[in-house]
Amino acid sequence: MALLSMQNISKTFPGVKALDRVNLDVQKGEIHAVVGENGAGKSTLMKILSGVYAHGDYDGDILFDDKPARFAGISDSEKQGIIIIHQELALVPQLSIAENIFLGNECASNGVIDWRRTNRRTDELLAKVGLVEAPTTKVDNIGVGKQQLVEIAKALSKDVKLLILDEPTAALQENDSRKLLDLMLELKAQGVTCIIISHKLNEVRYVADSVTVIRDGMTVSKLDAKAGLSENEIVRDMVGRDMTHRFPDHKRTPGKMLLEVEDWNVWHPEHAGRQVIRDASFNVRAGEVVGIAGLMGSGRTELAMSIFGRSYGRNISGAVRLNGKPVDVSTVDRAIAAGISYVTEDRKALGLVLDETIRFNTTLANLDGVSSGSVLNRNEETRVAERYRKALAIRTPSVFQKTVNLSGGNQQKVVLAKWLFTAPEVLILDEPTRGIDVGAKYEIYSIINDLAAEGKGVVMISSEMPELLGMCDRIYVMNEGALVGELAVGDASQERIMSLIVNE
Ligand SMILES: Nc1ncnc2c1ncn2[C@@H]1O[C@H](COP(=O)(O)OP(=O)(O)OP(=O)(O)O)[C@@H](O)[C@H]1O
Ligand SMILES: [Mg+2]
Repeated sequence: MALLSMQNISKTFPGVKALDRVNLDVQKGEIHAVVGENGAGKSTLMKILSGVYAHGDYDGDILFDDKPARFAGISDSEKQGIIIIHQELALVPQLSIAENIFLGNECASNGVIDWRRTNRRTDELLAKVGLVEAPTTKVDNIGVGKQQLVEIAKALSKDVKLLILDEPTAALQENDSRKLLDLMLELKAQGVTCIIISHKLNEVRYVADSVTVIRDGMTVSKLDAKAGLSENEIVRDMVGRDMTHRFPDHKRTPGKMLLEVEDWNVWHPEHAGRQVIRDASFNVRAGEVVGIAGLMGSGRTELAMSIFGRSYGRNISGAVRLNGKPVDVSTVDRAIAAGISYVTEDRKALGLVLDETIRFNTTLANLDGVSSGSVLNRNEETRVAERYRKALAIRTPSVFQKTVNLSGGNQQKVVLAKWLFTAPEVLILDEPTRGIDVGAKYEIYSIINDLAAEGKGVVMISSEMPELLGMCDRIYVMNEGALVGELAVGDASQERIMSLIVNE
C-alpha cells in the first residue's frame, strides 16, 4: 500500500529547473532510497515533501496517506508525521542532548520546563537509538555519528510515520554507518517508513527495498530490491552511461622527496594536558599520492590542520621540509606561499564563504593570481572561475551564483577549485569525495592523477578504504594521534589496515 505519492513535481530556481515532473512512490513500511548525481534534485524534492518549500512554491501533487498534502511549512508536515533530517545537521552545539531533542517542543507544565520528565524521556529515546550518553551532555562534545543518532532520537520524540534521511552517513565512519543502517532496519520492523538519500550504493543495497533514480531533475527509473539491486545498474541510471571502472587508470613514477614531516607533536588547544598528535613522521614524493587511513577521531584532520599554518593545536613542535629545506608553515599564508594547500573536510565551517559567489570563493585563496599590483582584475577572476567550473563540472547556471545555492557535492567541488588555484606543490585533501556522486568522484580522481603526473605530491585523508586502495601509492595508518603503520598499496588491503588500527 502506498504511503506517499509525489506526482509530476516541478520546481524552478532562478536559472535552474531543479525538478521536472518527478514522480516518487513510497510504500508503507519500506525503506526507499533516492539516488542521483550531485545537483540532480534529491534534496530539493525532500524539501518540498517536508514543507520547507511550501505548497504553491512548486508544481505537482503530493498524496500522503491517500490524502492531498499541501504543507505551508515544516510544522505542517511534522504534524502529519513526516520528519526530515537534513544533509547538514541542525543541532545546536551549545545545548545539551535533551535540550536539542525537545527544542520547541518542551515538556512543560504551567510554562515551566519539567527537567525531570525531559531527561527521563530523553533517556528512553536514547535507549531506542542505542546511544549511551547522559541527556545533559552538550552536543558539542559528542562526535558526528552520535549527533546523527540524536537527530533520529529527536525524530522519534515526535510521532514519526515517514522518516527522511538526507545523506545520513556522509560524515560517518564505517562502523557508525552500519549502526545507523541497522537502526533504520529496526525502525522499519516497528512500522516506520523511511526515505534515504545516499551516494554510498553499498549502503543502498544493504537497506533499501526499492530505489528511485533521479537524473537532471527527472525520474529515470524505479528499481525493486526484490529483483536484486546491482550497483552497476544503479550507476548506469544515475550517470546515463556504463561505468565499469570506479578509478581512472594511472601509472605513477614517484620522483624526488617533496614534503617531509618529522616528529610532529601537537597538544589540544583547550585541554593543556592532552596530546593530540604524537611523534608523527611521514613524507610524500613528487608525483606520489599518499593516503592516511584511520578511524574518525584518530587525529588525521588535526595532523593536517596543525601542519597547514597551525590552524589547529598548541605547543606544536617538529620539522617540516619541502624539497629538503626547512619551511615556515606557521601561518596559513606562509604555508600557501611555501607551496602547501589543504582542502578541508568541513566545507561549511572552513572551506567556503557560503553567502558569496562561486567566482569569489574560487579565487579567495589566491587573489594575487587574479590581480595586477593590488588591483583585482574582475574579468580574469571570472575567467578563472569559469575554467574550474568546466574542469570540475560544477553544476550551476553561472559562476555568479551564491555557493549556498549549490547542491552539497557541488559546494565540495568549489572548495577543491579554490585550493587547486593556489597551484600548490603539495595538496592535502581531507575527505575530498565526501558526499560526492560516483561520476563526479571519478572526475576528482582524474584531477588527482593529473596533479601527480605534473609532479605534485598529494596527501589524501579518507575514511573510504576502497578509495585509498584505488588511488594511493602508499598508505599510512593513524591511530590515537600516532602513525602506527605504513603500507605500500601492493601490500595493503582493508583487512590489513583495520588490523593495524585495532592492534595498536
Ligand atoms: N535555493 C536555491 N537557489 C538556487 N538554486 C538552487 C537552490 N537549491 C538548489 N538549487 C539548485 O537545484 C539543483 C538541485 O539541487 P539539490 O540540492 O536538490 O541537489 P541534490 O540532488 O541534493 O545534490 P547533492 O547530491 O549534491 O546533495 C542544483 O542545480 C542546485 O544548484
Ligand atoms: Mg543534496
